[in-house]
Amino acid sequence: MIVSPLRPEATGDVERLMALGEPYVRPRTSSEYWLYARLFSSTCPVAVSEGTMAGAAIAFRSQDDPTDVYVQDVVVHPDFRRRGVARLLLDSVRARAVGWGCRRLYLTSEPGNRAAHGTWLTLGFRNVPGDREVEGMQVSSNFKGPGKDRAVYELLLNGRS
Ligand SMILES: CC(C)(COP(=O)(O)OP(=O)(O)OC[C@H]1O[C@@H](n2cnc3c(N)ncnc32)[C@H](O)[C@@H]1OP(=O)(O)O)[C@@H](O)C(=O)NCCC(=O)NCCS
Repeated sequence: MIVSPLRPEATGDVERLMALGEPYVRPRTSSEYWLYARLFSSTCPVAVSEGTMAGAAIAFRSQDDPTDVYVQDVVVHPDFRRRGVARLLLDSVRARAVGWGCRRLYLTSEPGNRAAHGTWLTLGFRNVPGDREVEGMQVSSNFKGPGKDRAVYELLLNGRS
């Protein structure tokens, strides 16, 4: 498995991979993937196994609070799940964030996404207390705007390593 920054020539493969993340992840447009590859590649790692796009993560360092890195999407191809690919991708984002001296990685997932919940907890993220509980997950109502309730997770970083 090779993990490397997203390159413009791989954006079509990433778009097709993201479609396999339904219903929890919806693919964005090719212009957005172009943008990620051109402006944010060091926090957008892809994992490739023998020519197959096995997984990808899309993350960004905040311009409003440069100590924060937000992970927008993580998708692993169904044939490669439970083989540590999400761990590899998040390790890559985390290393980049630590190198910058960031203090926090955070992300959200939709209430009911048990695979994501299990993954983030195993990788050391904390499910941030919300205003209600859904199937054992803390959920923050309207976190991403009206009606967009999300379970929020964060991993605190300890600076350079
Ligand atoms: C969530 C997702 C990214 C996890 O990817 P993955 O590569 O299978 O995860 P990993 O193999 O790195 O798993 C690491 C650990 O997380 C936990 N985990 C992973 N999938 C899990 C599941 N379905 N249920 C419970 N725990 C799970 C396990 O503890 C696992 O370690 P183990 O396999 O040794 O027990 C993948 O299931 C996926 O692409 N889902 C669809 C898209 C999605 O929902 N993305 C997240 C929303 S942004």
